[in-house]
Amino acid sequence: MLFKGVFVTPFIPPVTMKTLCPAEFNLSLLEEGFTARDSVDQTIIESSTGDDRDAFYVCDLGDLVKKHLRWARALPRVTPFYAVKCNNSISVVRTLASLGCGFDCASKAEIQQIESLGVAPSRIIYANPCKQASQIKYASAHGVQKMTFDSEVELLKVARCHENAKLVLRIATDDSNSVCPLSVKFGATLKGCRGLLQRAKELSLDVIGVSFHVGSMCRDPATYTQAISDARCVFDMAEEFGYKMSLLDIGGGFPGSEDVKLKFEEITAIINPALDKYFPADGGVRIIAEPGRYYVASAYTLAVNIISKKVIVKEQSPSNEEEDDETNEKTMMYYVNDGVYGSFNCILYDHAECLPILHTKPKPDEAMYTCSIWGPTCDGLDRIAEYCSLPDLQMGDWLLFENMGAYTVAASSNFNGFATPDIHYVMSRPAWKCMQQINTQGMPAPVDEAGPACVAASCGSESAVELPAKLHQNLLA
Ligand SMILES: Cc1ncc(COP(=O)(O)O)c(C=O)c1O
Repeated sequence: MLFKGVFVTPFIPPVTMKTLCPAEFNLSLLEEGFTARDSVDQTIIESSTGDDRDAFYVCDLGDLVKKHLRWARALPRVTPFYAVKCNNSISVVRTLASLGCGFDCASKAEIQQIESLGVAPSRIIYANPCKQASQIKYASAHGVQKMTFDSEVELLKVARCHENAKLVLRIATDDSNSVCPLSVKFGATLKGCRGLLQRAKELSLDVIGVSFHVGSMCRDPATYTQAISDARCVFDMAEEFGYKMSLLDIGGGFPGSEDVKLKFEEITAIINPALDKYFPADGGVRIIAEPGRYYVASAYTLAVNIISKKVIVKEQSPSNEEEDDETNEKTMMYYVNDGVYGSFNCILYDHAECLPILHTKPKPDEAMYTCSIWGPTCDGLDRIAEYCSLPDLQMGDWLLFENMGAYTVAASSNFNGFATPDIHYVMSRPAWKCMQQINTQGMPAPVDEAGPACVAASCGSESAVELPAKLHQNLLA
């Protein structure tokens, strides 16, 4: 399948019609044949001439463009509202705004950030079921209408603080198969929904739809099917109270990298038929999602430098003296200049496993040692990896960590005075061109390579767009 020239319908029109400029995104365009990985190498070479070998990121914003095209192809009926909490770097959100994404904001500050990009409030969902009253008032004053709820207290607050809220009832899911469950904190039970809908009616509130989140890093696509079917029940239940609901929000939970058992397309292959069954395309229900990790995880590579090292020599017992070679006798502790109080907070908060890649490839016969890797702070908790196998590295050597874009920079701190790494944003020229085209002309519709266009049900503008099919092919390759 590739992309060809008709607006894909569920995607929101682009943010502006103005020409984009790389400086706004703080990004360097990559010369032909040059990749984000080459950028990592170049930065390492440049910093190796001085003493300051600070940790740094390279973020390939072109990866976000690819993800956006991939999303449109895999979930043509679902408009993405990027979950800002996952990574709120300004270049990231600006890129997604330029591509026409909507945004899931959890707070006033996140709403302000997205507003500052010129994104219309209709492209924001305030997707935090438990909100501070003053922040609801802010949303009201700024035209943000869509917001989630899962309790009566929230309904009372919204009735008091928002003139014109369009409420979305968040339901709980069975997220026991997800790495980061969320329904322990949010989501009404199906049983509880009836009372909430009744209360909303009594308060003359407008409930326009249902949302759910299957938990971040969902490992069982059947969770989506069950949640979509549950949402259908709530839509039907709402009719009893006179609500004709029109929005389904299928949340997040999608993987953001390829090092996972369950691939994105394996999940969407389950979601699409469920949507068609419970929410057919001609049923007048708009479908959105709140992907976070999906968009940003693979775009970021983190480079850290070894700042210290300890060699631990095992005490030999007489019995195994002969068997022990040198690699068994020694283990290494490497100390690097970013840790769990910085980018690697994902180990604590996101249950991430972070394994390094050597910047300089080891020789084929190089001895490998059992190692642990530690962050720079004075806390014993600051451990990045307990066991990994690495050669005998030296101070000043670099380690790379891939897929570091989700739930990393967003929650990192400066504890002990260690600064968050600089981020170098890059994008290939074809990706830049593609983003500009999407920004000015809208998303291309997916079409079957073999046959005529299989354009999703139309609800948006139609325009003939000279779309770079080859460009898309290259981007998706
Ligand atoms: C309400 C809500 N929406 C979306 C997301 C993003 O989820 P993910 O990164 O799994 O796509 C989260 C993550 O916690 C969330 O709480």
